[in-house]
Amino acid sequence: MVISVIGVGYLGAVHAAAMAELGHEVIGLDIDADRIAALQAGRAPFHEPGFEEILRRGLRSGRLRFTTDYAELEPAEVHFLGLGTPQRKDGFGADLSHLESAIDSLREVLAARGGAPTLVVGKSTVPAGTARRLSDQVEQVEGVQLLWNPEFLREGFAVQDTLEPDRLVYGLREPEGPQAEAVIAMLDAVYAALLAAGVPRLVMGYETAELVKASANAFLATKISFINAIAEMCEAVGGDVADVARAIGMDDRIGAKFLRAGVGFGGGCLPKDIRAFIASAEEHGVGEALGFLREVDLINERRRARTVELAGEMLGGVEGRRITVLGAAFKPDSDDVRDSPALDVADRLMQAGARVTVTDPQALANAAQRVPGLTVEAELAAALRGAELTLLLTEWREYRDLDPTWAAELVAAPHMLDGRTVLEPRRWAAAGWELRALGRSAPAQATTPTQTATSTPEPTAHPALGPVGPAVAPTPMPGRTLTSA
Ligand code: UGA
Repeated sequence: MVISVIGVGYLGAVHAAAMAELGHEVIGLDIDADRIAALQAGRAPFHEPGFEEILRRGLRSGRLRFTTDYAELEPAEVHFLGLGTPQRKDGFGADLSHLESAIDSLREVLAARGGAPTLVVGKSTVPAGTARRLSDQVEQVEGVQLLWNPEFLREGFAVQDTLEPDRLVYGLREPEGPQAEAVIAMLDAVYAALLAAGVPRLVMGYETAELVKASANAFLATKISFINAIAEMCEAVGGDVADVARAIGMDDRIGAKFLRAGVGFGGGCLPKDIRAFIASAEEHGVGEALGFLREVDLINERRRARTVELAGEMLGGVEGRRITVLGAAFKPDSDDVRDSPALDVADRLMQAGARVTVTDPQALANAAQRVPGLTVEAELAAALRGAELTLLLTEWREYRDLDPTWAAELVAAPHMLDGRTVLEPRRWAAAGWELRALGRSAPAQATTPTQTATSTPEPTAHPALGPVGPAVAPTPMPGRTLTSA
């Protein structure tokens, strides 16, 4: 089939290359000429394992190309919309302007099809009601139908998630009837290889499909904030959140995934999607129903503040002190620093007067661009040299596997703050480190008799984690520097 993908950011670029991989002829479009030039030259504009390979394969096959010119999309039978829907500058809601202007530009292309069956497929994350509103516009053109097909890919696994998704969701104006069948058959033809491999396909109304995506991200964010709330409790009573997570995760109904406590979630999706969900619920008069997501957001914010506070406790004040931050990306295997907890904490420490050096295997260029004045160092050994405190804030494999004896020889003082609950406390203690982690007791305290269920330790002065202090709960600011897309 001939397919277009409009908006080749993270989602769109991967989708375009993956569709070419499935054998379709694909034209990717973006208004960003630099991005188009890079993609057309076979260069990935972001770090994503396996992406450059399928991009180059698609270009070489002649089935994949990129353009900035809408007129070139005329032969396409199916147009995918992969545009970003960032948080609005003036509030929690989603900014749909990129999507709306793409629809405007597309209208002429659709009219030129002369009534031939054409499908427009939305993949962006949007508030419920958006698809119906947009369909009123595009379906005015004869032969055109709109379908909403949310995307669930994770950065770092984007290629795999696109080619082997858990499920395909089709949102339709009317999910049943002869018209629905024709629309479904057309998208089935695009995804034929996936369906043949047994990927489940669920058909539903527009609003339900939009809610599936919003609910999935809200649930994941809630799960992370849940375990981070328990981390706060662990700090108060002297428990170990990693053990709590391991034990409750063994219950199938709970599941072990997304229960890793630490500095919390970031990125271009979860934070802005829960805020857009809150805004949408309020607009529909059911704000109370999703009120708990505000708490999810606040717990997440508090972990960042607590990390900065704990760094201060470990050093007896951060001003003028040399601090090394391991990680800038919002998660490993990505160079994305949008609303990255690691970069946010590094920035806060810098603002508090610390001499901060940040290292990351992939994200330093993006980090330096986002936080002007940040000291970055690509080499791990050089970054560690002379550090009085080291913080592990993005769990790249090289940091998880760091040899504590080797690292101890480089730093000025062996103090480590594990912000991702990934380092083995005993191993680090044995190599002479003071290791502190969010929500975790130090090994010595973990085995003392006072750590029993019947003991009632002083909540504000845990021996391993120090005073918890008053909960710092800054209201998340819409459109903060580190939040904008
Ligand atoms: C998220 C969803 O997982 C995808 O399904 C969705 O398609 C995507 O958003 C989107 O809407 O486009 P992504 O932003 O790539 O994917 O990242 P996640 O893997 O969800 O991680 C988000 C954040 O949560 C990261 O900062 C990560 O470090 C943090 N996290 C994750 C934790 O703090 N603890 C965990 O246990 C898991």
